[in-house]
Amino acid sequence: MALMSHSKIERNVTVLGVLTLITVMIGGLVQITPLFWLENTIEKVEGMRPYTPLELAGRNIYIREGCYTCHSQMVRPFRDEAERFGHYSLAAESMYDHPFQWGSKRTGPDLARVGGRYSDEWHVQHLIAPTKVVPESIMPAYPFLKEKELKAADIAKHLKANRTVGVPYTDAQIENALADLKAQTDPNGDPSGLEERYGNKVQVRDFDGDPTRITEMDALVAYLQMLGTLVDFDTYVPAENRR
Ligand code: HEC
Repeated sequence: MALMSHSKIERNVTVLGVLTLITVMIGGLVQITPLFWLENTIEKVEGMRPYTPLELAGRNIYIREGCYTCHSQMVRPFRDEAERFGHYSLAAESMYDHPFQWGSKRTGPDLARVGGRYSDEWHVQHLIAPTKVVPESIMPAYPFLKEKELKAADIAKHLKANRTVGVPYTDAQIENALADLKAQTDPNGDPSGLEERYGNKVQVRDFDGDPTRITEMDALVAYLQMLGTLVDFDTYVPAENRR
């Protein structure tokens, strides 16, 4: 009997179409409706903050140069990945990324937790000539980053654009964007304003080894050295384990 009616459905295009549509709609509802009942689909995690202006400038270079075509930024929750790269990535860790950099290609290693793994000097040498530090590397060389002065005059606009899509930059952060960018690369300056706006864990130093000017290398290395370091995993407890 059941088989009989099935053959009826399959022989009538209209009935088959309508029933397919209804089935797909139910499937869609099952996936989407729970999201409306969740307080927030991204778990709030201590330590997350919007990028500093210098890190944001570095991130723009990362995107411009297409680093994402060879590098992912998402440690998946598998043992082999966690042992190689560190704690699996949390949704909150990319909540201020527009666009996100999860990536789908790993010609090179995942970079979600590369921050602090190498020295600034290592990154500078590696970006100038990858094979000098990793002889078998097939990564392209980016020597011009060290020569090119960072164009940062419009950095406040980048913060503003990010605010438009939901990153909670404050008026003070936007107003002081250029000053904060300079302060982060100046080890002899006064970082108090920068730290007040982004927290005192912000890494302040000359990143490219040339304190006389701010280059694209400064920005990119500042960005790489921050990746994956904002959340403290010694104290992090997943939401489902919190009481
Ligand atoms: C054509 C593919 C390709 C592109 C494009 C590329 N990389 Fe790589 N990258 C690699 C490969 C392969 C390695 C591993 C060998 C090595 O360390 O050089 C690597 C390694 C790295 C490492 C060391 C990671 C670790 O944990 O050891 C960093 C950092 C890095 N790349 C940053 C970048 C940045 C920043 C850019 C963009 C400016 C970039 N890469 C573009 C292929 C690429």
